[in-house]
Amino acid sequence: MSGSNDSAVRLEKIAPAIITEAQQWGLWLRPRVIAIDGPAGSGKSTVGYVVAEMLDFLFFDTGAMYRAVTWAAWESGVDLQDGNVVGELAEELEMDILPPSDLNRHGRNSVVLVNGQEVTAEIRRPEVDHRVSVVSAHARVRSALSLHQKRLGNRYGVGDAEKPGVVMVGRDIGTVIMPDAALKIYLDASIAERARRRHRELLSKGKDIDYKQVDAAIRMRDKFDSERDVSPLRAAEDAVVIDTSNLGIDKVVESILALVIKAGQGGGRHAAQS
Ligand code: DC
Repeated sequence: MSGSNDSAVRLEKIAPAIITEAQQWGLWLRPRVIAIDGPAGSGKSTVGYVVAEMLDFLFFDTGAMYRAVTWAAWESGVDLQDGNVVGELAEELEMDILPPSDLNRHGRNSVVLVNGQEVTAEIRRPEVDHRVSVVSAHARVRSALSLHQKRLGNRYGVGDAEKPGVVMVGRDIGTVIMPDAALKIYLDASIAERARRRHRELLSKGKDIDYKQVDAAIRMRDKFDSERDVSPLRAAEDAVVIDTSNLGIDKVVESILALVIKAGQGGGRHAAQS
């Protein structure tokens, strides 16, 4: 479960009737926000993008924002451990996260601009992977970015002329950014499976990297992301947890569409657990 290429093939297995039904019931969600959280490699970006496409919701990957700040801070040579300096940089950064101009652009689902420069590929480099957890643990960085994220979630959660709703993907969407999201999903997978996916993704992009290095990097990010003081990674109490270790993209997407239908039928808000 690593990129849009694989998903295009397997998604043909999803019954069109489920998609149509989810589109209809999805409009009953209040607010129309689907929060998808989970650790690195759990498949949340791939799955979130596909679900958003199927429902015609906006897809918003909040991890790209933390990556963009990390890349900018690293480029400018500031001390990444200094929360105030990096936080100030995050507050001043001009950042745009745009839909891809075509589905497979860089194999990613969002185009990212920092101060007008496209950094879509740069923010996915292992150098950023290794540093992003430190940067995203700073309280000042988080408050700068969460302000944008909440604003966007609230705007799209009630629908607008462009999109009727939003799928937000990250680590703290269900717990902190949009605690009122109509549907909260927490995707998980074993460390070994997540490392395999990430390794495959890097190899497919021509990066010659050892599996053990990828495994170690994933473990380090898990530790940092779940042990930090501010908004640590955890499932919201009312989130539906899906273990994707042995599931294909199609199965995970299908489960989420079924939850959208159930939530919509149940009155639209936090109804998936009832
Ligand atoms: O989903 P990702 O791997 O692109 O996220 C990159 C990092 O950003 C991740 O290690 C933790 C951080 N992050 C976060 O702290 N809060 C979010 N809502 C999204 C990402």
